[in-house]
Amino acid sequence: MNLYQMIFKRRSIRKFKKEQIPEQLLKDILYFGSCVLKLHADISVKMEICDNLDGHLPVKGLWKVEAPYYLVFYSEEKEGYLTNAGYILEPILLYMTGKGIGSCYLGNTRITGHEMEGVKQVVAIAFGYPKTLLYRDPATAKRLPLKELCVFKEEIGEPMKNILKAARLSPSAMNNQPWRFIVYHDRIYIFACREFLPSAPLVSMRDISIGIMLSHLTIAAEEMWMNIKLEAEETMLKKSFKSGTYVTTAYVKEFNC
Ligand SMILES: Cc1cc2nc3c(=O)[nH]c(=O)nc-3n(C[C@H](O)[C@H](O)[C@H](O)COP(=O)(O)O)c2cc1C
Repeated sequence: MNLYQMIFKRRSIRKFKKEQIPEQLLKDILYFGSCVLKLHADISVKMEICDNLDGHLPVKGLWKVEAPYYLVFYSEEKEGYLTNAGYILEPILLYMTGKGIGSCYLGNTRITGHEMEGVKQVVAIAFGYPKTLLYRDPATAKRLPLKELCVFKEEIGEPMKNILKAARLSPSAMNNQPWRFIVYHDRIYIFACREFLPSAPLVSMRDISIGIMLSHLTIAAEEMWMNIKLEAEETMLKKSFKSGTYVTTAYVKEFNC
């Protein structure tokens, strides 16, 4: 199964077996991660897998999840680094799902004592073989309906509908789905919802979630054989909107060989 199919099957896993994952598979995960396309190529990122089979790791944070392994994601702190983090991590989590591994984003969890020069810990991923069901029927996913997430300005075709369905299923911190879309037949204007309490941690979680959603858009567009270009419009960036912030525009067009 490919990443697109995994979008419709993945759910967060919070209970894991204390079972070793083969060394080669752990290497494959990191290798896959190193090949994932970044949203911002100029931002340095690093990833490491920490083994916690014996429960020795100093894992600290709110809403942490006990797991036999953690994938720790580090990044330079440059503009857009949080969205970039979500964009890079989501394909890795979908890849893991395809390999029978369950995972859960941990936005406020840090592995203490693990530091890397020039980069900071951004987010940790709990992962391992699941004790609970790995896959789900997408119809059971708790998500807002597309008609609440989107304003449709034009009739759209089947590929665009499928791209939006994939975006809708994106995981987000506290499942708050902080995105809204204005949809034309060939482009989507993407907005991030305003936080009611705009504290730095909440805004960080929102920005990582937005990156995850942009990765779903990209994966789905590729699956539909559509070219997708994410480009923020200067004029839109300057405008202020009542209930959210303009993020970018996804231009979608058919791929011609
Ligand atoms: C940026 C981010 C941070 C998250 N942080 C946590 C966390 O700290 N603890 C937790 O149990 N789940 C966390 N989650 C998982 C979400 O709660 C979960 O994705 C959401 O409720 C939707 O459920 P689903 O992934 O099963 O569809 C996080 C998800 C994202 C995207």
